[in-house]
Amino acid sequence: MTESGKYSILFICLGNICRSPAAQAVMQAMVDERGLTDRFDIDSAGIGGWHVGDLPDKRMRVHARPRGYELTHRARRVSPADFEDFDLIVGMDAGNIDDLRYMAATPEQQDKVVMMGDYIRRYPHYDHVPDPYYEGSEGFELVLDLLEDSCDNLLNQIIEQNNISK
Ligand code: 4NP
Repeated sequence: MTESGKYSILFICLGNICRSPAAQAVMQAMVDERGLTDRFDIDSAGIGGWHVGDLPDKRMRVHARPRGYELTHRARRVSPADFEDFDLIVGMDAGNIDDLRYMAATPEQQDKVVMMGDYIRRYPHYDHVPDPYYEGSEGFELVLDLLEDSCDNLLNQIIEQNNISK
């Protein structure tokens, strides 16, 4: 928990234009819905820097909008300072986790890294959030289904473990 009393979460994927900005928006909506907006800081970043400054992929935005999520994040690359600044760093797949654990400077920073797949409950065939970049529409809908499930479970755990209330 930061000095401001806020719990901070950083979602990570490869490009920061599909999965992690969607996770950021889904989690922000859930936090807002529970009246906990001022108790959380939620952000996202990418392992790679190919899309820095870009809005999320148009397809991701188009699929997110009917579910009530406006994706306005601008892509950025994860930095060493993020491992200091955030309480929790959430990767979308095993590749992200490997990269993040490698980047972490201390065992404490390594412990901040968790896998989104560990919070999926309703879709037992998935242990990660698959990259939709080269997929069709179903890939983007699947990402949103998996994120709505996993964000809810992750948020419940964070609230419980950190005694967070309005
Ligand atoms: P994301 O999807 O990691 O969910 O943002 C990708 C976006 C771009 C690339 C790969 C994955 N890319 O190689 O440019």
